[in-house]
Amino acid sequence: NANRRLAEVMPSLVRHLHAFAREVNLTVAEWMAAVEFINECGKMSDDRRNETQLLCDIIGLESLVDEITSKVLSTSDSETPSAILGPFYRHNAPLLPNGSSIVKNLAPSLPWYEQAVADSAFVTGRVLSNSGEPIQGAIVDVWHAAPNGLYEQQDESQPDMNFRGRFKTDALGGYAFYALRPVPYPIPDDGPAGRLLTLLDRHPYRPGHIHFVVSAPGFRPLTTQLYDDRDEYIAKDAVFAVKDELVVKFSPREGDPNARWSLQYDFVLGRG
Ligand code: DHB
Ligand code: FE
Repeated sequence: NANRRLAEVMPSLVRHLHAFAREVNLTVAEWMAAVEFINECGKMSDDRRNETQLLCDIIGLESLVDEITSKVLSTSDSETPSAILGPFYRHNAPLLPNGSSIVKNLAPSLPWYEQAVADSAFVTGRVLSNSGEPIQGAIVDVWHAAPNGLYEQQDESQPDMNFRGRFKTDALGGYAFYALRPVPYPIPDDGPAGRLLTLLDRHPYRPGHIHFVVSAPGFRPLTTQLYDDRDEYIAKDAVFAVKDELVVKFSPREGDPNARWSLQYDFVLGRG
């Protein structure tokens, strides 16, 4: 019951906040500055941007809570680790046939055309239960940023739903799509969260990543991200979301005019 949980959680929160204030000798002026800061985050937030969430992310809170949640809910050691959803998920990405591309309107006139060709990748794998059986009819919902580091909804120049798609697994649990190797990019740093990063002498970059939400009836949905092992920010993610098991290696792909690289990755879901 929610009230009972609140009664359990609040005394601990208050105790830790008081201990923190005592430990650092927090003054009235400093506390008021923090209140203003949180207010500013709230005022900047709407359905396109969640600055308070971003603030939590740069202090590692969303990643920690994700870690705790997956420990509480997982029923086996073999499940694919989760990672944070992040602020750029969109519902109802186009449902596409396996083997098709989430890259829209790729044309030589694009400023990042050369990079998109050089990073073109075929991504394939299976969705499995934690006892190793293929799951047919699972939905693999995928999204990543453009080579300019912007998600489609942050960037007027990209078509709607660019670099987004949903794929349904076949009888062998298989999914397949064309995408791009992801590039590092800065989290939105033009607000209070970005100002805090600057004050702390921290950079705003996340390592290149591809987001996934994998779901199937009878299984717990998996929210996760895969990280490209070539990325210099793997060990210094601004939001602390990287896990070793989620770092992947793209291999050169021969004989496919549509992709220079391949990636093979199986997702393992827990029952529930
Ligand atoms: C955050 C997460 C992302 O995946 C992303 O692309 C940008 C920001 C975040 O945790 O704030
Ligand atoms: Fe992201």
